[in-house]
Amino acid sequence: MRTQVAIIGGGPAGLLLSQLLHVNGIDSVILERKTRDYVLGRIRAGVLEQGLVRLMEEAGCAGRMHAEGFSHDGALISYGSEIFRIDFAEHTGTPVLIYGQTEVTRDLYDAREKAGGKIEFEVDDVMIRDADTDRPHVQYTRNGTARRIDCEFVAGCDGFHGVSRQAIPLTVRREYEKIYPFGWLGVLSKTPPVNHELIYANSERGFALCSMRNDHLSRYYIQCSLSDSPADWTDEAFWEELKRRIPKAQADTLVTGPSIEKSIAPLRSFVTEPMRWGRLFLCGDAAHIVPPTGAKGLNTAASDVHYLYNALREYYRDGSEAGINAYSKRALARVWKAERFSWWFSSLLHRYPDQSAFDLKMQLAELEFLRANRAAQQAMAENYVGLPY
Ligand code: PHB
Repeated sequence: MRTQVAIIGGGPAGLLLSQLLHVNGIDSVILERKTRDYVLGRIRAGVLEQGLVRLMEEAGCAGRMHAEGFSHDGALISYGSEIFRIDFAEHTGTPVLIYGQTEVTRDLYDAREKAGGKIEFEVDDVMIRDADTDRPHVQYTRNGTARRIDCEFVAGCDGFHGVSRQAIPLTVRREYEKIYPFGWLGVLSKTPPVNHELIYANSERGFALCSMRNDHLSRYYIQCSLSDSPADWTDEAFWEELKRRIPKAQADTLVTGPSIEKSIAPLRSFVTEPMRWGRLFLCGDAAHIVPPTGAKGLNTAASDVHYLYNALREYYRDGSEAGINAYSKRALARVWKAERFSWWFSSLLHRYPDQSAFDLKMQLAELEFLRANRAAQQAMAENYVGLPY
């Protein structure tokens, strides 16, 4: 097979890139290790920045998102029995859109399918070859048969565990990582959300988050131990623990019900530099991971896709390599700020096993400063709704 851009990974980053390239007359092929149903079975966050909303519009995939998504002008932060609101509209004039990453992915699959886009599912043994030359190619197997795609560029959108990052030699690559000493236990339930906006809760028993997908579907998380497994947590134990971590007024009105999904995710901050090697470009989780506290995972993948698709568009339209050459620097400049925000917001809200009495006082002082200080709220709001790109 021949294509202009071989895209490794059929998650939201790869699909969005493929669809945006298609709209601009650039051909791509996506290789995905799993099936479409597997990819669509993964529950991820559900807060979209305007930048991603705009990209979905450019990709011609925004219809259902606008019809079914909910615009949020603020979010609540609680600590102990205290609760306050950060007003995104007031501080930035920009809302966020509540719409599940799973739905974004579904809309992109539908669009790629409708446009006759080529996606190879259930591929194995993917190898990126000659990325440091003008003629890269990708080898893989499907149903036991060896195959090859000749291409002009390779986009590595295959996530943290993918092969793309590993294709960059260790002599070139530098990785930065922070592992957090806890995880998030998440529950999806067919119950009305406890509040019409998200509640991020710092409690002495650990972090909790009340989120939602729509009026009848709630998503809740509690900080848990890394040694816990979902089977350790009955639905009842989960609800009881969640209630203990949010203010009484919200705990008293929380509607509980059976979980329809329950999973544990570890928390990690990770960045690899550079994000480009020759004709290979990394996008999204392949290059960086954030803890989910700021809801920045998908949104940061989207800003990478923005920089990369514009760089490729310039290359094919004007023959200019300026965007390609600037890709890694531009993407990383924004990635590091999302890393900072996600790290800061995580540090503000979680209980750490080695936290001293002094550390706890610092957390409390930071929360009280944020509650009272407009400049601090503005900085939080600007980061939460997404820094410009
Ligand atoms: C979610 O709804 O799954 C969600 C929302 C906000 C976050 C993380 C996850 O920060």
